[in-house]
Order: sequence, then structure tokens, then C-alpha cells
Amino acid sequence: MAELVAGGKGVIEAILRRRSLAPRKLVAPGPDASQLELLISAAAAAPDHGRLHPVRFVQIADAGRATLAQLFRQAASQMEPQAGPELADREAEKAHHAPCLLAVVARIDDANPVAPAHEQWISVGAAVQNVLLAAEDLGFRAMIVSGRKVQSRLLQAAFAPTGSEHLVGFVAIGTPTAEPSPRDRHPGSLAHWSGT
Ligand SMILES: Cc1cc2nc3c(=O)[nH]c(=O)nc-3n(C[C@H](O)[C@H](O)[C@H](O)COP(=O)(O)O)c2cc1C
Repeated sequence: MAELVAGGKGVIEAILRRRSLAPRKLVAPGPDASQLELLISAAAAAPDHGRLHPVRFVQIADAGRATLAQLFRQAASQMEPQAGPELADREAEKAHHAPCLLAVVARIDDANPVAPAHEQWISVGAAVQNVLLAAEDLGFRAMIVSGRKVQSRLLQAAFAPTGSEHLVGFVAIGTPTAEPSPRDRHPGSLAHWSGT
């Protein structure tokens, strides 16, 4: 593997090296406006059958953090009513983590004649991965997070109000304050098919 990486253009190494870091461990500075533009361009470079652009990103402005915290609190209580106020507090706190927080909103056209829904979801995932990789290339760490609260009607209505869209989660990006903990990667899966 090491020789293969050495023969590559750095992309493989970046992919293999990429690690998520919890949003609470990400601090300022985050990406500036031109870096953010680059990240969104990286997202737009993902494979996209039929050019449907099935994903958009919404940056949470600093001014919106308090409202997001309130939404996280209410959504957590709605989704896990048996949990106490500690959970709601913890979820609310997450709205203040990471200097750059991007809501990921997917628009999947179930009736598209060219690209079925699963292909569009693949595009969404590839776009997110491109953002994560590009963020690391710029010297940041990043992570996509969701949690049960994201499935709440409240959060869905806030970020995907038309009903034809779906809030997937949030990409947090920032400067790392810690190293990600070691993690064994799954080796992946490759079989061979010879026609029988
Ligand atoms: C759509 C999506 C949502 C995720 N939501 C969470 C989450 O809420 N909390 C969490 O700990 N990990 C979540 N993960 C997994 C992490 O983003 C991350 O991939 C995982 O911790 C593995 O770490 P690594 O990226 O360094 O391999 C999510 C992944 C995806 C694709």
C-alpha cells in the first residue's frame, strides 16, 4: 500500500489519512469565505448522474446559533421524551460547536427517469466526502454528524421546509484542538465475478 501511495498524486494518501474529529474539539479559525467557496466547489465536483445537484449546504451564521440551540433542545426532547433535561442541554450545546457548521440538505427526486433515488443519495454522500477531504487539505478537521434530533419534524421543517428535501446532518469544520483517537479501518470488500 505504501508504494501505491508513493506512486499516486497525494489523493490516496489524503483519503486514507482523513479522520473525523468531534465538533466540540474544533475551534476557530474555520474556513474563510474563499476557503468555504472552495469547499462548496469540491462538493459540486462529486459524481452527479443527470446533473440533478441533489445536495445543498447551508452555513449556520453566528447570529443563528442561539436559535439553532433552541431547535436542538426542542428536537431532542421531541425525539427522546423519556430522556431528562441533561440530554436537551447537551444537544443545545452542540449548536455552538465548531466555527463552521454547514447543514446538509438533500433533494431527492424519487421519480427521476435518469437517476434513481439511490444514485442521487450516492451523489449526496460523495459531495459530503469531498467537503471533508477538501477541508483537511486546507489544514482543518471536519466531521459530519446527525443524531436522532435531525429526524425531528422541527429540524426538518427548519432546513427542508418544502417537504421535497431532507436534512441529512451537519458538517462541522474547524481547527483541531486534539488528534483523533486511533481507529482501525475496515479493510473494505472486494470479490471477483467471472460470469457464473
Ligand atoms: C450522514 C452521517 C451522519 C453521521 N452522524 C454521526 C453522529 O451523529 N455522531 C457520530 O458520532 N458519528 C456520526 N457519523 C459518523 C462520523 O461522521 C464518522 O464518519 C465516524 O465517526 C468514523 O470516523 P472517521 O470518519 O474518522 O472514520 C455520521 C456519518 C454519516 C455519514
